[in-house]
Amino acid sequence: MTHGSRFEGKRIIVTGGGSGIGQAVVLRLVAEGGVVLAVDVNGAGLDETLRLAQVAAGHGGRALALSASVADEVAVKAMVANFVAAEGGLDTLVNMAGILRSSHTTETSLEAFNEILAINLGSTFLCCREALPHLEASGGSIVNAASTSAFFGHPYMSAYSASKGAIAALTYALSWEYAKRGVRVNAVAPGGIGTAMTASAAANFPEGVDMSLFMHLARGDYQFGQPEQVAGVVAMLASADGAFMSGEIVRIDGGVHA
Ligand SMILES: NC(=O)c1ccc[n+]([C@@H]2O[C@H](COP(=O)([O-])OP(=O)(O)OC[C@H]3O[C@@H](n4cnc5c(N)ncnc54)[C@H](O)[C@@H]3O)[C@@H](O)[C@H]2O)c1
Repeated sequence: MTHGSRFEGKRIIVTGGGSGIGQAVVLRLVAEGGVVLAVDVNGAGLDETLRLAQVAAGHGGRALALSASVADEVAVKAMVANFVAAEGGLDTLVNMAGILRSSHTTETSLEAFNEILAINLGSTFLCCREALPHLEASGGSIVNAASTSAFFGHPYMSAYSASKGAIAALTYALSWEYAKRGVRVNAVAPGGIGTAMTASAAANFPEGVDMSLFMHLARGDYQFGQPEQVAGVVAMLASADGAFMSGEIVRIDGGVHA
């Protein structure tokens, strides 16, 4: 598939860029000319992203990589400051880093609950906070990763769902806070995308089969979506094509929650 050049010269940070949806977002934005910093704790995943980005790059696009945890405040401050110093600014932040750990709620420790919130929600907050002054300067935008679990009951995912519901609320609040300052803030709410996250969730927690059963009952022909199908929507939201969209959370689930 050939892509346009909507991100030519644009400076972009994508968290979770070493795997799954984040990696697909990096490749799509690089193909459309973006200068994209992929950030992840998964060093091998980042190497693969850089390798694939060399093939995907178009319109002057290029990828860079940073191995860091976006749940670490010091690391996030350095990530944004160093990228802006090197590239002269920031036009787009895509917050895709996240973890999913399924468990029975009565068997979930407070420590485990808080860890999921810190990585999913805390990192999104930190990256937004550090990026916003630079996005205000460039008239840029943010795309966060919510989930269909923010709006629909997904069993054995109480901590994950709470983190994603809070990311949706954060997205709405920031959208309004920055409405008059020229920064658009949107989110995607994927559901059932074939990535390492969904594969390991199914493998590590057999009761999660209930979840697939629910999806199959809802739609007998249900198949996981592809990361690229989410990346295309992220690109639309972050580009001029999404210029009249803010505070929007776009569900991408093959219609299973319609
Ligand atoms: N796959 C789905 O069905 C689905 C559905 C709804 C929402 N999402 C969300 O989409 C996003 C991407 O998920 P995915 O399916 O591509 O999963 P994935 O596991 O393939 O990718 C997530 C990436 O985030 C990275 N990461 C985790 N903690 C990090 C940290 N502290 N600092 C930096 N990087 C970190 C991981 O190393 C991994 O590379 C997540 O936020 C997820 O919650 C996914």
